[in-house]
Amino acid sequence: MCDDMARSPDLTDRDPRRKMWNFLSPIALFASKGNKNGKNELVPVAIQMDYKPDSAVYTPEDDGNWMLAKLNVQITDLGYAQIVEHLAKIHYLMEPFCVILKRTFSSQHPLHQILKFHCREITVPNTFGTPKLVDEAQFMDLLFAHGNTGTTRLLKDSHKVATWEVTNLKEEVKVCSHTILLSLVSSNRAVTWNLHNNIANFFFRYYKDDRAVQEDKELEAFLNELSLNGTGENGGIGRIQKFPARIDSKEELCDVVTRIISHLSLQHTACNYLLTDYAVYIPNLPTKLYNDTRVKEGEFSVYRLPNRFTSAIEASFSNSLASFRFDSLFDYGDSLEDSKAANIINNHYSYLMRVVQPKLQERNEKRKDKDDLTYPYFIPRWIPNGVQT
Ligand SMILES: [Fe+2]
Repeated sequence: MCDDMARSPDLTDRDPRRKMWNFLSPIALFASKGNKNGKNELVPVAIQMDYKPDSAVYTPEDDGNWMLAKLNVQITDLGYAQIVEHLAKIHYLMEPFCVILKRTFSSQHPLHQILKFHCREITVPNTFGTPKLVDEAQFMDLLFAHGNTGTTRLLKDSHKVATWEVTNLKEEVKVCSHTILLSLVSSNRAVTWNLHNNIANFFFRYYKDDRAVQEDKELEAFLNELSLNGTGENGGIGRIQKFPARIDSKEELCDVVTRIISHLSLQHTACNYLLTDYAVYIPNLPTKLYNDTRVKEGEFSVYRLPNRFTSAIEASFSNSLASFRFDSLFDYGDSLEDSKAANIINNHYSYLMRVVQPKLQERNEKRKDKDDLTYPYFIPRWIPNGVQT
C-alpha cells in the first residue's frame, strides 16, 4: 500500500541546507531472540529501505545507516497505521453500524440498549477530526512527505480492505503481521476471554431460541441496511463489505455483536492510545527524515530529525488523538432499565476491574522491574467503550 507514494513539498521546513526524504515502503526482517531475562523477543535484524529490489539493505552493523533504517520503518508504520488501520479500518468502517443502529432499532431494543454506549460520539471525530487530519495544509499534509495526495491515495486504497473481515481477530492474525495487531493479540487475551460469554449471557435473556432471532424485524432491518448485499428499500446503504445481510441463530448474533463491541473498544484502543507515549517522543517516531549539509552521508545526527516546528505539530497531533477518554469498558450497567441485564453487564465490569486489572498491572510492574516495555493500554479502566477520539 505504501509503494511509490507521492512526494509533496515540505510545508514545515524551508531551511535550504535540509532536504526531506521521500516516504518509502521499507521491508523489515525480525528474528526471535533470547533476551537477558531469558525470554524471547522480536528484534529487527535487517531493513531494506524501500520495496524496490535494488534498495539498500542495512543491518545492526551499519551504525548511522541502521538508525536511519529503523526510523524509516517507524515513519511508514506510523503513517500506514493511522490512515489504514486506525482511520479506515475502525473509524470509517464502524460509523455506519452506529448510525444505522439509530435508524433501525427502537431505543427499548436490547441491542440498542447496550450498543448505544459503544457507539457514543463516533460521528464527532469522524466529522470534525477528518478535515483536521486529511485536508490540505492539515496534519497529514504537514507531517508526512507524501502530503495530502498520498494520504488521499492511502485512504482510497484502504476502502477495499476495510471489510467486516478485519473484525475477525483470529483470521486477521493469519494474514497480517502488523505491529499493532501483534501487540493487540499478545495483550488482550485476558480482556477478551470472557467478552463473548458476557454478550451471550446478555442476549440469551432476550432471544429464547434461534427463531426469536429470525423473527426480530428491527434486527433484520439493521443487518440489511448495513450489508453491501442488503436488498430492497434502504438495503445496503451502510455498504459494509462481507457483512451478512441476514443471520438466523443466537450464536451468529453473539458473534456479530462481540465483534462490533470488540472493534469499537479494544481494537480502537490498540490503534489510538499508544500515540501519546510513542509518537510524542519524536526521536522514537518522527514523521520525516532529512539529508542535511551538516551531516555526512551514512551518519546519524539530530539534524536528521524534523525541526522544532514539525515536532510541535506531531506532538499536538498525537495528544489531540490519544489523551482523551470519557468512560471505561462496560461501566454503564446501572443505566440499563432491565435489572437482570444490568447485573450481567455489572458482573462483567467487576470482573474486568477486580480480576483482569490487577493481573495486568502486576504483569506490567514485573516487566518494568526487568526493564522490559510495559503495555498499559488494556488496563480495563483505560479502555473506553467506543471510538471517542
Ligand atoms: Fe481514533
